[in-house]
Amino acid sequence: MPVPRRKTKALCMMLSFNIFVCVLVGISWTLSHDRSGGDKVRIPSQRFWSKPVQSKSFWNREQQRLDFIHNPIVNPGLSLVELPHWMNDSGPADPCQPDHRVPAQIADYNSLPRRFQDFLVHMRCRLYPMRINQPGVCAEQPFLLLAVKSLMPHFDRRQAIRQTWGRAGVLANRSVATVFLLGHTAAEDHFPDLLGMLGHEAALHKDILQWDYRDTFFNLTLKEVLFLDWFSKHCPQAQYILKGDDDVFVNTLRIIGLLDGLSELRAQDFFIGDVISNAGPHRDPKLKYFIPESVFEGQYPAYAGGGGYLYSGALALRLHNASQEVLMFPIDDVYTGMCLRKLGLAPEKHSGFRTFGIEEKYRDAPCIYRSLLLVHSRTPQEMLRIWPWVVLPELDCQ
Ligand SMILES: *[C@@H]1O[C@H](CO)[C@@H](O)[C@H](O)[C@H]1NC(C)=O
Ligand SMILES: *[C@@H]1O[C@H](CO)[C@@H](O)[C@H](O)[C@H]1NC(C)=O
Ligand SMILES: *[C@@H]1O[C@H](CO)[C@@H](O)[C@H](O)[C@H]1NC(C)=O
Ligand SMILES: *[C@@H]1O[C@H](CO)[C@@H](O)[C@H](O)[C@H]1NC(C)=O
Repeated sequence: MPVPRRKTKALCMMLSFNIFVCVLVGISWTLSHDRSGGDKVRIPSQRFWSKPVQSKSFWNREQQRLDFIHNPIVNPGLSLVELPHWMNDSGPADPCQPDHRVPAQIADYNSLPRRFQDFLVHMRCRLYPMRINQPGVCAEQPFLLLAVKSLMPHFDRRQAIRQTWGRAGVLANRSVATVFLLGHTAAEDHFPDLLGMLGHEAALHKDILQWDYRDTFFNLTLKEVLFLDWFSKHCPQAQYILKGDDDVFVNTLRIIGLLDGLSELRAQDFFIGDVISNAGPHRDPKLKYFIPESVFEGQYPAYAGGGGYLYSGALALRLHNASQEVLMFPIDDVYTGMCLRKLGLAPEKHSGFRTFGIEEKYRDAPCIYRSLLLVHSRTPQEMLRIWPWVVLPELDCQ
């Protein structure tokens, strides 16, 4: 009798040991999977898993290749020569030369809208020279940097922002600096030549940053990447950044109030906005946000709508690093979500961010603006009308 009982005991021990091993393997798989930063982008964590499944979509494939290159620790001893053929980087040596491999690598390339073709052929280039810089704009180490995405012709929007929510200086006893982020509106896109006027504006206000690239919707990601690069060089001590469009209204007072209450610990990974979760690419070619399956497959990470979001300078520096390992994606706010995920973070939703607007009946209700942080969209005239409602003490809002 005692013999079989001992056998059962041994069997039980073996079984539980097996379960333990399974759990360990599961955990390490999950960890390595998370580190890869995406559901679709899988980094094998051990040698015998190293044959990745080739994605049918161009972006995903290229990102798989980037992940391999940037994860030598995960793939010890795996040299690039051992990569499957499709993982080999046969693009131009200079990333800023048009990448002529691309058309042959996307089945429906020739039938894609022109903006995709432009994006895909140039997406490896992240270095564009600055035409106008303001290296001293952060000399005072601002508490809050307002970084406003604008377009060359939007002189009136920029001026309205300077006169209202984006006035540089001291507000609520905190220093605020403002920059406008611009590419150029090119003659090839039939824009009039506004360079002379822009030069005048830049000299007058010293808040214009301009890079030498075509300012188009799909190049907004480039604007993001170039801004992070500029920030790490010229403004790394700024404590917080609000990045937004030039047609949003921002309650800067309330933003500062919120930031004043943050602990140092919370500031480290602070990133809030109008967060969109569980979204994926639109497949209807008529939509502005259309992304074809041949370019991208999978869900988007949680991301904050690009109309405006608020984050810490410390996190911006880490995002700058992470962005080097994330392939450019044509939708800028989704791209920022991807970079956050690379860091193992997700943006936090705050109901004060209204990038989809507020109910029309509240548009002219002064007290509404006291409780909001950011609202889309407002004209220059509306900004000038709303700002006094926010700052003037005589308005009685209970
Ligand atoms: C990858 O490219 C390099 C240089 O272009 C070449 O020497 C190598 O054979 C290629 N490897 C594969 C697997 O195609
Ligand atoms: C204003 O800010 C300075 C430094 O940031 C601080 O020393 C001072 O106490 C603040 N004043 C008020 C009234 O909060
Ligand atoms: C982005 O800017 C570059 C540089 O001006 C240009 O070559 C490219 O066509 C632009 N991409 C898009 C999608 O407009
Ligand atoms: C960014 O990466 C560089 C080099 O890998 C590293 O030295 C630096 O500490 C990183 N910065 C942040 C903020 O993570």
